[in-house]
Amino acid sequence: KNVAVFASGNGSNFESIARADLPINLSLVVCDKPHAKVIERAHNHGIETFVLELKNCADKTDYETQILEQLHQHDIDFIILAGYMKIIHATLLNAFPQKIINIHPAYLPNFPGKDGIGDAYKAGVSETGVTVHYVDEGVDTGHIIRQQKVPRYKSDSLEDLETRIHSVEHVLYPDTIRNLIEKGEL
Ligand code: GRF
Repeated sequence: KNVAVFASGNGSNFESIARADLPINLSLVVCDKPHAKVIERAHNHGIETFVLELKNCADKTDYETQILEQLHQHDIDFIILAGYMKIIHATLLNAFPQKIINIHPAYLPNFPGKDGIGDAYKAGVSETGVTVHYVDEGVDTGHIIRQQKVPRYKSDSLEDLETRIHSVEHVLYPDTIRNLIEKGEL
């Protein structure tokens, strides 16, 4: 299967997937930020990138239509969101039904949205987590595929918690993707 990863920033989750040696063809990275570190990471893995900023498009439909053209050109079958900071709209959802997954740095349905780690930290919880889920029209509301709890200790700084969550993500995401492949869902 040909898979595209969508990312906006650092790309450490992309990196963990690219290094996992999964039986898929990671053929495209789609990015909405021209200076994101994920672009350099993709090039280091010899993976093509498509960079498109929403501000250079007429509207969200035009933005997603241009992305869709690229996905068709690369014969993409499945989309993995990895730190992609935009909501997926109808154009892409309709073209890839049940074929878009996301990783969220909290134990959904707790702490959805942009700052899952910071929100859990501020709320003072003793436990948070990581969730991999299908993407639907809501924000972090799609069907949950897999979750793992992550402790938050009293002595944690926000950075401590971030580091702990990211290291769980970097194992959980490739593992969940491998599982989906084995079940024939990817
Ligand atoms: C991760 O914490 C992911 O759960 C969230 O955005 C972050 C992306 O990090 N959706 P990176 O760009 O993969 O390093």
